Formats: sequence, structure tokens, C-alpha cells
Amino acid sequence: MELKGKVALVTGGAIRVGRALVLALAEAGCHLFIHYGRSALPVRETQADAGQFGVEAHIYSADLADAAATQRIVPAAIDRYGRVDILVNNAAIFPEEDTFRASDLGAWDRLFAINLRAPFLLSQAFAAQIPAGEQGKIINVLDARLRQPVPDHFVYRLTKAGLWTMTEMLAHELAPHISVNAVALGAILPPPGANSGYLEDLAQAQIPLKRAGSPQIVAQNVLHLLRQDFLTGVIIPIDGGQFL
Ligand SMILES: NC(=O)c1ccc[n+]([C@@H]2O[C@H](COP(=O)([O-])OP(=O)(O)OC[C@H]3O[C@@H](n4cnc5c(N)ncnc54)[C@H](OP(=O)(O)O)[C@@H]3O)[C@@H](O)[C@H]2O)c1
Repeated sequence: MELKGKVALVTGGAIRVGRALVLALAEAGCHLFIHYGRSALPVRETQADAGQFGVEAHIYSADLADAAATQRIVPAAIDRYGRVDILVNNAAIFPEEDTFRASDLGAWDRLFAINLRAPFLLSQAFAAQIPAGEQGKIINVLDARLRQPVPDHFVYRLTKAGLWTMTEMLAHELAPHISVNAVALGAILPPPGANSGYLEDLAQAQIPLKRAGSPQIVAQNVLHLLRQDFLTGVIIPIDGGQFL
């Protein structure tokens, strides 16, 4: 797909990995519909930085835990641009306390709503507005830790496992005009609040390539997936070999 002039909707696009995806898409010539939740100040900076590339960038806030609010996102983007060509399901939550024994119904419902139900609702609305015969692209942001089935981050893992499977199912369901691919991230950014040596220590101890990734590396891989027209159902682990 030629990216110049396309309209891309990125969830959680204000900060961190989502911001890098927004800026890379803007640099590639896409107009942006930047969804955010609570990052009302950072999103304005991201919007302004995206605009530096000469594309349009609009921002839109919605709580992805709220199904009705989530269902208004794609229509809002269509109001703005008339269509959406690219959907990037980036937003997610990753609670620190998330064990089999400690998780409760509230945590379960919230994680599944934000991490899996929202991508489902957005993908459904996105697919419905692609005109017959025209191309669309969905990118899901997964977690490479799923390549090793251990029970850390219990409910989070289940939500991302669902999104992993949904990527492959929708690749079938939405072919031939809409392709559905994903990136599965390893150590890209430290959790908020982690100390400055966190990623370096982790890289030395656990990553075969002995370094952490970066949001820019994620963005390069996403652009690659978007530009290719013979890839669907592809999930690229970006983890330096950590979860092999
Ligand atoms: N960072 C890593 O190394 C790493 C590793 C593995 C996988 N991943 C995956 O990569 C993606 C991005 O990671 P990240 O570290 O950049 O994530 P992050 O810093 O935790 O940011 C999460 C994003 O999701 C949005 N979000 C969360 N809950 C929301 C809600 N209820 N409503 C609306 N938006 C909501 C946030 O928006 P607001 O700030 O505007 O509220 C934020 O932009 C996620 O899918 C994550 O699971 C990241």
C-alpha cells in the first residue's frame, strides 16, 4: 500500500509506542486520527509534531473501557476524513498486580474491555466502512512474551492471546481487501516509574541480542507491514530473541 495520503487511526497515540507510530505514519504521509484516553496534554504535542510533516492530525478522546464510547471512534474519524484506511490497535493496559490468585472480576472485565473488546469493536467498525473492492489495513500490537506460556501477568496475557488469535482469524475473515497483521513487542520501553537501568539490566540478563528495542524499531516494522500487499496474518516478534 502506498501510504501517502492515507488516513490512519491509532489508538493510544499520545505517548510512548503509540506516539512513535503516529509520527512514523505522519512522516510517511498519512493523515492521522489520534485516539487518546487521559493524555490530554501529551496528545497536543504529538498532534503538533505530526503536523510538522505536512499532514492533517486530529485528536479524539475516548475511554476504551466504555463500549459505547469506543464505538463512536471510527464514526468520528469518518466525520473528519470521510474514511479510514489504516487502523492501529495500540492502546492497552498492563497492570503490575495481575496474578491468577489475586485477579478479580473487576480487573478481568477492565483488561478484556480495553485490550481485546476495544480492538474487536474498532476492527468491526473499520471493516464495515471500507468500500467494496478497496484496501484496508489493520495492525494489532501484541506482546512477544506470549511465545512462552508462563503464568506471569495472568489476565493481560489472556487478553493479548485473544488479540493474537483475532489477528489470524480476521486475516482470513477480511481477506482479500483488508489485511490484518501484528507486531509482538518485547522490551521496548520500561514500565512507567522503572529506574533508568531497568532495560539495560534486563537486556544483559535475558535478551540474546543484549539490547532493548525502541518505539522507532516498532514503527519501522509497522510501516513495513503496511507497505506490503502479500502479507496477512503475519505477527512479527520484536524482542531481540528474548522469548524464543
Ligand atoms: N512498552 C513495551 O515495552 C511493551 C512490551 C510489550 C507489549 N507492549 C504493547 O505495546 C502497546 C503500547 O505500549 P506502551 O508501553 O506504549 O503502552 P502505555 O505506555 O501503557 O500506553 C498505553 C496507551 O493506551 C492508552 N489507554 C490505556 N487505557 C485506556 C483507556 N481505558 N482508554 C483509552 N486509552 C487507553 C493510553 O492512553 P492515554 O495515556 O491517553 O490514557 C496509552 O496511550 C501496548 O499494546 C502494549 O501492551 C509494549
